[in-house]
Amino acid sequence: MINQKYTRETVTHVRQWVSDKLFSFTTTRPDHFSFIPGQFARLGLPTCEGGAPQVWRAYSMVNGPGQTGLEFYSILVPGGEFTPRLAKLVPGDSLYIDRSAFGFLTLDRFEPGGVLWLIATGTGVSAYLSLLQDANTWLSYQRIILVHGVRHAAELAYRAEILEWAARPPVSVDPKSAAQLRYLPIATREKLPDTPQERLTRLIESGQLETLADSALDPKASKVMLCGNPEMLHEARGLLTKRGFAVGRRGIPGNMAVENYW
Ligand SMILES: Cc1cc2nc3c(=O)[nH]c(=O)nc-3n(C[C@H](O)[C@H](O)[C@H](O)COP(=O)(O)OP(=O)(O)OC[C@H]3O[C@@H](n4cnc5c(N)ncnc54)[C@H](O)[C@@H]3O)c2cc1C
Ligand SMILES: NC(=O)c1ccc[n+]([C@@H]2O[C@H](COP(=O)([O-])OP(=O)(O)OC[C@H]3O[C@@H](n4cnc5c(N)ncnc54)[C@H](OP(=O)(O)O)[C@@H]3O)[C@@H](O)[C@H]2O)c1
Repeated sequence: MINQKYTRETVTHVRQWVSDKLFSFTTTRPDHFSFIPGQFARLGLPTCEGGAPQVWRAYSMVNGPGQTGLEFYSILVPGGEFTPRLAKLVPGDSLYIDRSAFGFLTLDRFEPGGVLWLIATGTGVSAYLSLLQDANTWLSYQRIILVHGVRHAAELAYRAEILEWAARPPVSVDPKSAAQLRYLPIATREKLPDTPQERLTRLIESGQLETLADSALDPKASKVMLCGNPEMLHEARGLLTKRGFAVGRRGIPGNMAVENYW
């Protein structure tokens, strides 16, 4: 595979979060593969055993940039071309990874300072897990608010890890200089003890999200990332634009960054 744009890697661990719907896995890391937290890799699978990879999909890295392997968090889409096969992989199996990382859901889109809002539905949380495992994120903001919207409580993957990180950052930073992390898990199809059963867009519109976060969505003092379901992104982006948030352009940093997952 010399000179190929991709390398063959090995699955090292698989974790089921919700049976037949959500799982994560780790792989070996291609030599010299580097990425900025928030970026994604292109993963490939062959259509037949031992064949060249023919189906490729984008996957945000979950792990921090300095970790040895790569970690990904995935949905299983029934009838999808890629995920039903991805979900069958077990440790020791191969998958292909493009040598380059891609994407712009990265902190260099923003000026540092103020409050960083990380708003996701479903597997969109993946990119933020990587950001939260990078010291730069903790040192660049005073507060970080992670909002994760899912259908059911069981789909709040990585919840225990995030709660631990809210108590102590997972990277070595001086606690006096590190941002405070506030985690807001939101479910729409069952009631969670401390948060309303409501879509994120509705919570933004009503101002309830700011009350829950104890922080204003103020375009002068906040930066917002949106990731996940494209309809949610479209609606949330519209609401935030009306409040004065804008995506950066031509080298001018903005205060909003958006990544569609499909
Ligand atoms: C930049 C980028 C990063 C991505 N990162 C991730 C990631 O970290 N984890 C991940 O699971 N997916 C991620 N995706 C989506 C992923 O690339 C595939 O769409 C997904 O694996 C489904 O592939 P499929 O061939 O089985 O179904 P597809 O034919 O690709 O999709 C069929 C339908 O499934 C639904 N769907 C697709 N992806 C999702 C999803 N993630 N959550 C809920 N419904 C979905 C949509 O309705 C879509 O039309 C990302 C996509 C992009 C563009
Ligand atoms: N049994 C299953 O449900 C099952 C099993 C296996 C795989 N799947 C696959 O899972 C996919 C769904 O995955 P998912 O639940 O992670 O994603 P999702 O449908 O995007 O839902 C995630 C969260 O986003 C919310 N949301 C959806 N559209 C929104 C909008 N326009 N504005 C604001 N919030 C919005 C949802 O609220 P609402 O609850 O109000 O929609 C939910 O809280 C399906 O496409 C299917 O392929 C489903």
